[in-house]
Amino acid sequence: MKIVKKIVLVLLVAFVGIQFIPTERNQSDIVPVTDFMLVNKVPNNIKSKLQVSCYDCHSNNTNYPWYNKIQPVAWFLEDHIKQGKAELNFSAWDSLSNRRKSSKIRSIIKQIESNEMPLSSYTKIHSDAKFSENDRNEIIVWIDSLIK
Ligand code: HEC
Repeated sequence: MKIVKKIVLVLLVAFVGIQFIPTERNQSDIVPVTDFMLVNKVPNNIKSKLQVSCYDCHSNNTNYPWYNKIQPVAWFLEDHIKQGKAELNFSAWDSLSNRRKSSKIRSIIKQIESNEMPLSSYTKIHSDAKFSENDRNEIIVWIDSLIK
């Protein structure tokens, strides 16, 4: 019993301790003129779906509910944001050439179609980010029209 108490105490101290390690926050008040939503006429329903389901990892502004600020969740998210933005950053959309935009759109369609994105580890916590079959179809049809 004593040893269990000690282990619990050590874990508790460690958990509290890691909360004080500073992390980088992916936050910005400015929506840059290159943002996907500003350079395209995006219907409102599609706009909110992409913002809720993709923007946390693929833009310059992550929405941080309380559980995203708690370690080690924040570290996992930080890692996903770095990798996600390297692949696709909706905030910097208009700085891509037309050719790169087309190839990104094809890649977005592939990711949504195959249910790879949004990441399942993410939708487990963010149930509002999950797409229904209908959401998927709607987004794919609309985004595909950008390259037609
Ligand atoms: C929790 C973070 C997270 C969310 C939310 C998220 N992504 Fe990603 N995305 C990533 C990461 C990390 C990568 C790079 C690694 C990989 O491909 O799995 C990535 C890669 C991609 C790629 C490039 C894939 C490739 O291999 O070419 C596309 C396109 C993409 N995401 C689109 C989306 C779209 C569209 C949404 C919303 C429907 C979305 N993502 C939501 C984290 C995320």
